[in-house]
Amino acid sequence: MKNFKLRLPVFLWLLMAGLVMRAQQANPLREVSVASPDGDVRLVFKVDSQGVPTYSLSYKQKPVIKTSRLGLELKGAPGLMDGFSLAAADTSTFDETWTPVWGEESKIRNHYNELLVTLDQEAQKRQLKIRFRVFDDGMGLRYEFPLSRNLNYFVIKEEHTQFAMTGNHTAFWIPGDYDNQEYDYTESRLSEIRGLMQKALTYNSSQTPYSETGVQTALQMKTDDGLYINLHEAALKDYSCMHLNLDDKNFVFESWLTPDAQGNKGYMQAPCVSPWRTVIVSDDAREILASRMTLNLNEPCAYDDVSWIKPVKYVGVWWEMITGKSSWAYTSSLPSVKLGETDYSQTKPNGYHAANTEHVKRYIDFAAANGFDQVLVEGWNEGWEDWFGRSKDYVFDFLTPYPDFDLKGLNEYAHAKGVRLMMHHETSSSVRNYERHMDDAYRLMKKYGYNAVKSGYVGNIIPRGEHHYGQWMVDHYLYAVKKAAKYKIMVNAHEAVRPTGLCRTYPNLIGNESARGTEYEAFNGNKPFHTTVLPFTRLVGGPMDYTPGIFDIKLDFLGNRPHKQVNTTLCKQLALYVTLYSPLQMAADLIENYEKHMDAFQFIKDVAVDWDKSLYLEAEPGDFLTIARKEKGTSRWFVGGITDENARTAEFRLDFLDPSKKYVATLYADGKDADYQNNPTDYRIKKGIVTAKTKLSVRLARSGGFALSLVEATPENSKGVKKF
Ligand code: NOJ
Ligand code: CA
Repeated sequence: MKNFKLRLPVFLWLLMAGLVMRAQQANPLREVSVASPDGDVRLVFKVDSQGVPTYSLSYKQKPVIKTSRLGLELKGAPGLMDGFSLAAADTSTFDETWTPVWGEESKIRNHYNELLVTLDQEAQKRQLKIRFRVFDDGMGLRYEFPLSRNLNYFVIKEEHTQFAMTGNHTAFWIPGDYDNQEYDYTESRLSEIRGLMQKALTYNSSQTPYSETGVQTALQMKTDDGLYINLHEAALKDYSCMHLNLDDKNFVFESWLTPDAQGNKGYMQAPCVSPWRTVIVSDDAREILASRMTLNLNEPCAYDDVSWIKPVKYVGVWWEMITGKSSWAYTSSLPSVKLGETDYSQTKPNGYHAANTEHVKRYIDFAAANGFDQVLVEGWNEGWEDWFGRSKDYVFDFLTPYPDFDLKGLNEYAHAKGVRLMMHHETSSSVRNYERHMDDAYRLMKKYGYNAVKSGYVGNIIPRGEHHYGQWMVDHYLYAVKKAAKYKIMVNAHEAVRPTGLCRTYPNLIGNESARGTEYEAFNGNKPFHTTVLPFTRLVGGPMDYTPGIFDIKLDFLGNRPHKQVNTTLCKQLALYVTLYSPLQMAADLIENYEKHMDAFQFIKDVAVDWDKSLYLEAEPGDFLTIARKEKGTSRWFVGGITDENARTAEFRLDFLDPSKKYVATLYADGKDADYQNNPTDYRIKKGIVTAKTKLSVRLARSGGFALSLVEATPENSKGVKKF
């Protein structure tokens, strides 16, 4: 237990030796503390004079979380809020290194000191435990509910976990919402959240805020004295997703769970636990990105055989529907189409149904020619004529293709070329209908050789009144992932609850959307700083299917129709393959748009999707990022850099390269005149020999970026290539 700094009253050492001490004894036990392995993060737990459990947290002696209360209110039963005494405090230390199936690095260290407090609620004759894990990069805490006569079945009215901030920090936030996460971020002081809430909501939502100061996690903050603080949760299972409500006079956040249709927040049976509530902290923004705490707080992999889980690079029949060029639906004959009653072979095609055999073949050919693993096809199945907005229960059966989609033939065509099709299950949030069809749907996939499904939950949930982030849906998302595993199917769920590191336990959860993705660039735009914020917020919980790679930035392919542009340069799109980590990456644009820039497209072809190592070279939330990653199992490195609405110069050394080797570097950078609004497709490609001693300085245009690939030099690939 080297470095384990415990500043405990003498009598606590007795406890640690395994002696159980009752708090009611002459010397009541009220306060315990535990520090991180390196001693920088320190947690103090205290029971106050009212018997309220509290904690506080510091980093390098600076306060991070001031004294904050812990507890839960129950429905129809006395709360787990006060009247507690500290019955026992057990500490331990843990250090392991584990191997993720896929990830930002191939080995992850999980090293923490733990404090488990047992609290007696004498008046109710029951106990509550709170487990704290303190890591070098932060702290996780969770409630544990031991079974007792007076704590067996219970309903949560509200969880009251507080995070008391030390000041009016800068925050990168999106509004609290039970059904939508797809907001643009707002950067503001905590005190400004209330005033900016309406604007943040109306920017893209029809939802009403449940609170004027409610925000979603992961919430990234920055203090005036240079601390980066991130609040989120880990291992969200069989519980409602947490929002944070701010008391903006005192800067205290408090948990606010997503309710069910009846307003309740969780149905529990002891023994059980809550998800972890997490605080990641550092004085270096790059360390927030390097943190693996969220994954570490999840259980190890639940599957024995993971050989069927593989990272995926894919193209798809998709962007054309999102931009309105084509449709998911086969007919336009609304409102006469009813699933199961309509003979689609007799209906009139609308003439712009994209998921047709000929068109899909073109995507399969393109995927095969350019080394992609899969082709996503949306709109292949019957039901898209009135797919959402009407709260229809029986929308899709996930089984029946439209008459112009040759399910069997296309799969055979793809497999013959070494490509797979990616299944699409839009549920339109008729979740009971999806569950009813799920086994048949997965069985159909197996029959035709699909091994990955993109699922989606657009619209209001059926059962009506349930919310996307409530316990009922949280249970559904995991049910779908676990059931898919039985069929050896990987899941990429859109609109599902924001991830909390569950992919460690269930690595077939290969992707999630759960935030504002590229699709909004076709609706009303993403702010130029959006992708510099996501790694500090949404990606803290797990990878995102952001669907980058748009090359026709002005959306010229739409002709004269009114359209917005994508707020990016072309090189920024390339950089996103490195800066937005995902083992599932799409090249989202149309084939014809790639064909105009095959030299730049080369980077998307080359870039890896699974990594041995990731290095965060430069980072500032909301401003810029430069990240370098080494491909798993090879010596190739890829570097990506992006910036917000301000141009900048990225400066970094290649000292991560093997010093005994030379590398061929290919740099894809914004051109001299590049600008995301005026000249987004101006780029330059430069090739040269580099070594670990090379220092690079790359100019990024406004909302621009760069991508760099580094391949070990061989006589063949370096012939005629000069020093960089
Ligand atoms: C929303 C998803 O984010 C998008 O990718 C998908 O194409 C549509 N839903 C239709 O399922
Ligand atoms: Ca979406």
